[in-house]
Amino acid sequence: MDFGNFYQLIAKSPLSHWLEVLPGQIAAWQREALHGHFKNWARSVEHLPELSPETVDLLHSVTADSSQLSERQRGGIEKLLRNLMPWRKGPYSLYGVEITTEWRSDWKWERVLRHITPLAGRTILDVGCGSGYHLWRMVGAGAQLAVGIDPMQLFICQFEAVRKLLGGDQRAHMLPLGIEQLPELKAFDTVFSMGVLYHRRSPFDHLFQLKNQLVSGGELVLETLVIEGDDLQVLVPGERYAQMRNVWCIPTTGALKNWLEKCGFVDVRVVDYSITTTAEQRRTDWMTSESLAEFLDPADSSKTIEGYPAPLRAVLVATRP
Ligand SMILES: C[S@@+](CC[C@H](N)C(=O)[O-])C[C@H]1O[C@@H](n2cnc3c(N)ncnc32)[C@H](O)[C@@H]1O
Repeated sequence: MDFGNFYQLIAKSPLSHWLEVLPGQIAAWQREALHGHFKNWARSVEHLPELSPETVDLLHSVTADSSQLSERQRGGIEKLLRNLMPWRKGPYSLYGVEITTEWRSDWKWERVLRHITPLAGRTILDVGCGSGYHLWRMVGAGAQLAVGIDPMQLFICQFEAVRKLLGGDQRAHMLPLGIEQLPELKAFDTVFSMGVLYHRRSPFDHLFQLKNQLVSGGELVLETLVIEGDDLQVLVPGERYAQMRNVWCIPTTGALKNWLEKCGFVDVRVVDYSITTTAEQRRTDWMTSESLAEFLDPADSSKTIEGYPAPLRAVLVATRP
């Protein structure tokens, strides 16, 4: 995977001082990525055809199509994309191949987009971007540049596969990094952290790391699991929460608002609550292992199988002064 285009793109931008550390980090990642499944995934991406779609929609969905494609070519694309399973975040519609992902990430996007400062012309960071579905929707909403980071090797392969099928669009980029590897860039107009906070051992460090990526006046969009209750309550689950091993803490929205203010954010607002349903997160033909239905108590869907409150998510918006 070649990150040269991205280096060139940021060389003369406010992100340029990222280049002091980024090429070294990527080189280290590339040495490591030579092992395991990555090679096979990368080969599938390599074998995908370079296509120039006749139609692309990133505003209402992530869709690309062309009337020039034969049924055989379409079948070839589907086979290569299936090599990149499981597909968790989407959906994507690529030349008639409908990737029905585990998550309806488009539903989350609808809940979020209506409450945030319009993205037109903005430089955006999406922390924990998964396959990059929301990066494409940010581009569709007019972002000047959408940069995603996520340490999972499969997800960067999925992102590059989609980018190739979208005709090599350079308005979105994804880097195989964790948030903790980012220097304090103070250069993004909007920073998204969706579905990441509860996976971080130290939520305050995470909030400071997000703040340090924003320009003064920039906007944080934080989406995370919450529980109901007063400002003093935080759930620290045992070994698993809804079968996930790496869930550290789930606050109430009141507590989370206090945390954001303690980290120096202002104008903190809770803009959305939603219970995660088995229509939004489910097993599909493209993600065939267990999903939310199996993670809830079969006798009481208001509880996880461990007996905790079932997943409830909130979106908060805050500003870096
Ligand atoms: C629940 S998913 C959320 C994906 C997407 N943001 C969404 O809301 O649909 C959490 C993502 O965070 C990523 N992640 C885990 N640790 C991370 C870290 N240290 N820095 C950045 N991303 C991380 C995971 O690989 C995963 O893709």
